[in-house]
Amino acid sequence: MVRIVRATEAELKAAVTALREGDVVAFPTETVYGLGANAQDPKAVRRVFELKGRPADHPLIVHLDDARYLHRWAREVPDSARRLIERFWPGPLTVVLPRTESVSDLVTGGQDSVAIRVPSHPMARQLLTSFGGGIVAPSANRYGRISPTRPEHVREEFGAAIRIVLDGGESQIGLESTIVAFDPAGAVQMLRPGHITVSQLEAVVGPVTPPGAEHSPVRVPGSTQSHYAPSTPMTIVPTDEIDTRAAQSSAGGQRIAVLAQRLPAHTYSHVTWINASRRPEVYARDLYANLRILDKAGCAQILVQDPPHDERWAAVHDRLRRGAASRAD
Ligand code: TXA
Ligand code: MG
Repeated sequence: MVRIVRATEAELKAAVTALREGDVVAFPTETVYGLGANAQDPKAVRRVFELKGRPADHPLIVHLDDARYLHRWAREVPDSARRLIERFWPGPLTVVLPRTESVSDLVTGGQDSVAIRVPSHPMARQLLTSFGGGIVAPSANRYGRISPTRPEHVREEFGAAIRIVLDGGESQIGLESTIVAFDPAGAVQMLRPGHITVSQLEAVVGPVTPPGAEHSPVRVPGSTQSHYAPSTPMTIVPTDEIDTRAAQSSAGGQRIAVLAQRLPAHTYSHVTWINASRRPEVYARDLYANLRILDKAGCAQILVQDPPHDERWAAVHDRLRRGAASRAD
């Protein structure tokens, strides 16, 4: 069930006061929970980087309550960007545009561009409207880890270090926004896949360059190989091998966790098995919560049944691939 959640006046007031005082506030969006700070307060923005343990050259997304304030942040908005904004805002689309001079280098990682989005979650909109300015908000997780889709995930990540966590229930999309950039002629390139697919963008603006394309003109900070990663090593396994692998590990006495899209063929003694949805939007909504459960199951590894490969699963594959990539540290 979709729970439409709104903050009370008292909650909103406390959150807005905290933002004005330079504090950070975690808040829900339809994609994932964000760790919000006043985009125009350098100290508050620094605090976000510190709390996350995020390198300074990974720029942040500025959240606005309405596209009419875009000109304060972006000095040029190509026609293709306008059309995408009209179609997908408020919603899970982030646009990267040439920035105005007033946007802090801290927010953009020193780049000449800024990433902007208008979220649709009612509580995010309430907060943005009451605050009346731009709020930077990376996903509210420690750098490289799984993004939070529920308020308790934010608590798990940060404990008492974050005083205010607005509870907006479960994020209904569950994966971070689709990010697009534009070349000077307005050609569109997808930087990060999300709920909004290449085909959906193409229906509005014509050909879109998919992420990771060769000859990509845009530098993509934060697209490091390992990201969205559980602490337990994770492997993506072909569908027809998942039961054999589970049986082998179990027989060898190794505890393993499985994220599958069906029930196990047998009962295994050392296996924690989640039967996730076959519908891409439900699988995506539950993915991070499921990975957190499996990560806490005390297993030597997490096996993920390779999901289908059509376009609707592109964002899921992207996150699974990065979650499974071995960490640099
Ligand atoms: O759904 C979302 O986008 C969530 C919610 C909270 O809004 N936020 C989120 O933020 O995922 P974060 O910081 O975890 O990811 C932001 C991504 C990073 O990969 C970053 O490199 C990219 O956006 N980004 C930000 N500014 C950019 C820029 N100027 N050029 C290229 N990429 C940029
Ligand atoms: Mg993130």
